[in-house]
Amino acid sequence: MFYNAAMALDRDLSVAFVTAAFAGAPHGRRAWEMLAATGARGLRIAHETGRFDDFLLTERVTDALRVARANAAALGVPGVRVEAADAMRPVESAAFDYVDLDPFGSPAPFLPAALAAVRPGGVVAVTATDMMVLAGVQKGAAERRYGAIPVRGRLGPEGGLRLLLGFVAREAARRGSAVRPLLCYVHDHHVRLYVRLGPPGPTDGPAPVAEIDPATWTGPELGLCGRAGPFWLGPLFDPDLTDRLVPPAAPARPRDVARILARFREEARVPAPFYYETNRLAGALGLPAPPSPDALVAALRAAGHAAARTHAREGAFRTVAPRAVVNALARSLGAGAQSQNDRVRA
Ligand SMILES: C[S@@+](CC[C@H](N)C(=O)[O-])C[C@H]1O[C@@H](n2cnc3c(N)ncnc32)[C@H](O)[C@@H]1O
Repeated sequence: MFYNAAMALDRDLSVAFVTAAFAGAPHGRRAWEMLAATGARGLRIAHETGRFDDFLLTERVTDALRVARANAAALGVPGVRVEAADAMRPVESAAFDYVDLDPFGSPAPFLPAALAAVRPGGVVAVTATDMMVLAGVQKGAAERRYGAIPVRGRLGPEGGLRLLLGFVAREAARRGSAVRPLLCYVHDHHVRLYVRLGPPGPTDGPAPVAEIDPATWTGPELGLCGRAGPFWLGPLFDPDLTDRLVPPAAPARPRDVARILARFREEARVPAPFYYETNRLAGALGLPAPPSPDALVAALRAAGHAAARTHAREGAFRTVAPRAVVNALARSLGAGAQSQNDRVRA
């Protein structure tokens, strides 16, 4: 029966997210987990957060439904309903405050039903595990499925995150809705988005969804041969939300969840697309050794540029500084490290 242990941290983060994003008593709040399997995610959210009066879990496989119902009964969470349904179709006429879309592979076929089911101001959570497509290994499939050209290589996963977020934003815009990312991350072999949907505000400009032209791009080197995207190039996090995220009371991955939440909090202050890796910088600039990421982040901050380590890759950091500034600081730190080495050897 379906239970994905590899997603345990992700479910910890769901509980942390819902607890922070839906503060206070439920007051009639409604949630829908579209693809519930045995209920591992939805039941954890319902049981551990207590943030919903009504929590609908739907699934189409009979055996999974049987286990989900047994799990729901064992937990005894008030307001939980487990029903057989095809999640490609809207299930109920009343809108939901929270819709969770957690498929195998691509969420694209289910997205219209998810967007139609959430109330204005509500939240949609979307997982995608089709990383071969989103991260550029299967470029043609990305163009067909998401109408976008992906980034391939070491920045491919973040490219996939931004490609999917751009796709969700475009799909929402077709329905007259704007997305506001609250918490969007890449982890292992999946990406996960939590976005608030609502009518565009009076001061909102166009959504920051655009193609990247390597001729004018001043961010991290993406190894592109031509234009790519469209990508979401705006923030991935809402700092007010990330400041309020705390690990669940009984996390499945206590150390990992605390660590990634700390990264999100710092990173939320640096709304810059894509990240730098110090070993790649050292290679590109011909430095004898990579500067430490923490030293480079400190140097960037001292020079007045927002910068932070990223959750997306160990040893990597993001910054709002242009690439020329990052290169100059990396060279000077590299030179400092070299002369220190020379002194040690002398
Ligand atoms: C990745 S699993 C869901 C995992 C679950 N959210 C959890 O945390 O354990 C995807 C589930 O979607 C179900 N599914 C696929 N297509 C469906 C459809 N059209 N309607 C309802 N359920 C569907 C599959 O049977 C499978 O159990």
